[in-house]
Amino acid sequence: MSADLLKGKAAVVTGGGRGIGRGHCLHLAAAGAQVVVNDLDVEEAKKVVAEIEKAGGHAIANAANIGTRAGCDELIAECVKTFSGIDIMVNNAGNFRDKSFLKMTEDEFTDVWRVHVMGTFHCAQAAARVMQERGGGGSIINTTSAAHMGNFGQTNYAAAKGAIASMTYTWAIELAKYGIRVNSISPAGTTRMSATFKAAGGVESKAPFMDPALNGPMVVFLASDEANYITGQVFGTGADRVALLEQPRYGTTMLKPGGWSLDDIRAHFKNQLGNRLEPFGLDKAPYRYYDGVRRQGSLS
Ligand SMILES: NC(=O)c1ccc[n+]([C@@H]2O[C@H](COP(=O)([O-])OP(=O)(O)OC[C@H]3O[C@@H](n4cnc5c(N)ncnc54)[C@H](O)[C@@H]3O)[C@@H](O)[C@H]2O)c1
Repeated sequence: MSADLLKGKAAVVTGGGRGIGRGHCLHLAAAGAQVVVNDLDVEEAKKVVAEIEKAGGHAIANAANIGTRAGCDELIAECVKTFSGIDIMVNNAGNFRDKSFLKMTEDEFTDVWRVHVMGTFHCAQAAARVMQERGGGGSIINTTSAAHMGNFGQTNYAAAKGAIASMTYTWAIELAKYGIRVNSISPAGTTRMSATFKAAGGVESKAPFMDPALNGPMVVFLASDEANYITGQVFGTGADRVALLEQPRYGTTMLKPGGWSLDDIRAHFKNQLGNRLEPFGLDKAPYRYYDGVRRQGSLS
């Protein structure tokens, strides 16, 4: 039954040549979708196509650089030309240039922004325009990360992943009227990229091996018509979990008719909000600055 879930649908996966994207491609094809396996590293994409064909599926490799508008346009056009349309757009390709904030260069920031944010924007827009014109609905699946909550050494990557979450919510609002759903996964898996995460936190990681292909089944489900009621959501996927991300919202609130003067804030802030400040960052460690954010003794 699952082998036919995506029968007749065409899918594009960016960065599908290795890691998490490769797993998406294999699972989409196993569920009956025709897949465009995009990767800058086209030799890797071709290997994934060969695996899919060996298993009896349909796929083509595409070498477009999704860090450019032209690359994204070319990618979507190839899917439409080869498979007569596009129903599923999986924005997965990613890169990283970790560096602490005070040392990060503009190039290191924009290199990551261009691939994650602009690549997701351009590919999703090109795909959604085709979906809208053809009136057939569709499913867009973006890739964010828990790093968007803040992570040491990842100003560029965290910002990009936060932008992708925000674009997901915005597109879900705008595209629902065309029957197009937009969700994100926040995946996990042992890949070339995950090997760098320990360096970002400055702490040696002892994470056990996680099969990157285990994110694929949730992508297939989100791509399918069975998920036609799911949009604007972020799911933590990978290993043994499928977790629903609780979205940012305003919590405890101080209210004062007429508004808060500076004197009022100074008089009431500490007792009302200042004793319950939020943990921040990927690890959500308990808030530790109640005694002040102080310069540490010996800074190098
Ligand atoms: N691995 C994890 O635990 C983890 C955690 C959170 C989020 N993610 C996200 O999952 C996605 C996949 O990451 P991964 O761990 O599989 O990384 P990976 O490095 O193994 O694979 C990424 C693929 O994207 C391709 N790519 C990069 N830039 C491209 C471009 N401009 N055009 C086309 N292809 C391009 C690469 O060649 C590579 O094959 C990324 O968006 C990443 O940020 C991964």
